[in-house]
Amino acid sequence: MERTRIGIVGAGPAGLMLSHLLARAGIDSVVLERRSRDWIEARIRAGLLEHGSVDLLDRTGLGARMEKLALRHRGIEISTGGRRRHIDFMEATGGKGVTVYAQHEVVKDLVAARLEAGGDLRFEVEGVRLEGVDGPEPRLVWPGGAIACDFIAGCDGYHGVSRASIPPEALTLFHREFPYAWLGLLAEAPPFQDELVYARHEAGFALFSMRSPELTRAYVQCRADEDPDKWTAGELWDELDRRLAVQLNRGPLLLKSVTPMRAFVAEPMRHGRLFLAGDSAHIVPPTGAKGMNLAFADVVALSRALVRYYREGDEAGLDAYSDTCLARVWKVQRFSMWMTRLLHRDPAHDEFERRLGAAELEYLLGSDAARRALAENYTGLPLDLTDV
Ligand code: APR
Ligand code: PHB
Repeated sequence: MERTRIGIVGAGPAGLMLSHLLARAGIDSVVLERRSRDWIEARIRAGLLEHGSVDLLDRTGLGARMEKLALRHRGIEISTGGRRRHIDFMEATGGKGVTVYAQHEVVKDLVAARLEAGGDLRFEVEGVRLEGVDGPEPRLVWPGGAIACDFIAGCDGYHGVSRASIPPEALTLFHREFPYAWLGLLAEAPPFQDELVYARHEAGFALFSMRSPELTRAYVQCRADEDPDKWTAGELWDELDRRLAVQLNRGPLLLKSVTPMRAFVAEPMRHGRLFLAGDSAHIVPPTGAKGMNLAFADVVALSRALVRYYREGDEAGLDAYSDTCLARVWKVQRFSMWMTRLLHRDPAHDEFERRLGAAELEYLLGSDAARRALAENYTGLPLDLTDV
């Protein structure tokens, strides 16, 4: 049977970055991905990098395309009551801004770096099963083969096989479903301005974002069971303009889809020799654009713990992995839930709740301290990269 030190399930940001970090430390891994390379490199997902994620990419030799393609902003705008007000994150944090760099571009950079380094990435591997995670030699098994591992990293996302391989009684799952979702578009239309605009509107949340100087990305809050086909492009553009109090540049739609809104955490993030990282362990509402950044924070902690194990024979990092990650996960969950509640219209809320929400936003916009707290969380909590 084949053997590797770390078997990684999933070639998304978590799995690819973990493989990259381990390779830099001389630790071999095999990544098994069920989709094709083309599919994962074309999958339109999030688009914002925290300050720490930009540093991580730069420090690990992955910054070249990002330097050329990324869009850098000082802050964001918040639109409410027909007014847009700017929040300067650079000023509030002493230099941390917003970096727009699409997740699929990060995935392309990671795949290219792994293949160039001779990394073992295997695409279109169907039917992966995890065996023996409670024992000394876990295995990844699929119809085409099997690999014995020292450890397995479950980086296969919310719907993956890894978390499902843990006995239910060994996990505690925390869920929040929302009575709304996001109806999003991606259009060949130059962004009408540089910085993102978030809107709190009586009709619901809206967000103007972008992917490049040529591509506009935008979302409106919709019903959780919304049918995107019910909306014409014109109706969606009109609703965006109305809620954001702007006039977006319009163009052909490349994508129109509904993004579900959910919050989820699985505890612990370890079972025997299986470690969960990224969306396989947690989902945060997309409002704070935290998913990829949180996945990176997990695998920085996991790679650090594995390096410590192989170099010093010390399992302390591995034993602390779940608690280390969950401390950050819950802080990011808190921020993402807070930002979601602040800007969305909850159909279950009465007028009292609605006025409380409006007052919370007005307080934020008028308080240096509140804006600093927003900026600190939005640009990213500190990420220890000392040994990366
Ligand atoms: N076998 C092999 N690969 C799998 C399996 C499986 N059974 N199930 C899922 N995968 C793959 C998916 O095809 C995907 O490429 O695992 C990968 C998981 O990647 P992500 O879902 O991107 O999760 P993660 O790497 O944790 O990154 C989190 O990415 O999807 C966004 O919103 C998410 O921004 C967040 C970030
Ligand atoms: C996006 O561009 O997809 C995006 C940007 C900011 C968010 C969420 C999503 O808060």
